[in-house]
Amino acid sequence: MNIAVLASGKGTNLQAIIDALRNGRVKAAIAVVLSDNKEAYALKRAKEAGIEGIFVDPKAFDSKEDFDRELIKHLKRHEVGLVALAGYMRILSPCFIREYKNRIMNIHPALLPSFKGSDGVKDALDYGVKVTGATVHFVTDDLDAGPVISQSALEVDEKDTEETLREKIHKEEHRIYPEAVADFAAGRLEVRGRRVIRRKK
Ligand code: GRF
Repeated sequence: MNIAVLASGKGTNLQAIIDALRNGRVKAAIAVVLSDNKEAYALKRAKEAGIEGIFVDPKAFDSKEDFDRELIKHLKRHEVGLVALAGYMRILSPCFIREYKNRIMNIHPALLPSFKGSDGVKDALDYGVKVTGATVHFVTDDLDAGPVISQSALEVDEKDTEETLREKIHKEEHRIYPEAVADFAAGRLEVRGRRVIRRKK
């Protein structure tokens, strides 16, 4: 299966997926990395891994839909079966989500449905929760509210700063996201309403 990763920043999750697919048994590969940020380190990682990395400039399009249609063109060209968002800082338009229904995943740095939005780590810390974590979920029109694929919980230490907590969460992300991608690529995930069933196969 051809996978596309959309990333705006560092791309440590992209790297985790690249490494896992390389070493794993699932017949899947990242065919293309798309970014809305020319400086994204994720694009460098793609290049180093021999994967096509494309910067699509949001400023070159009149609307969000036009920009997303351009992304879709690249996905079609690569016959992509799964779109993995990994630190992608834009909200996808409904036309994109419709086109790839149940085939778009995202990783979120909190235990959804708690602490949705762009600052899940800080929001959880500020709230004072004792447990937080990471969530992999399918993407729907409602922000950070699609069916949950997997989660990993961890304790918040009294000494944790935003930085140390982010580091701990990242470590969990790098474990559960590649797993979820591999499960999808191997046909092990089934969406039943809000629930995602992982078949042993
Ligand atoms: C991750 O923490 C992810 O949960 C959030 O954005 C961050 C991306 O990190 N959606 P990276 O670019 O993969 O290092």
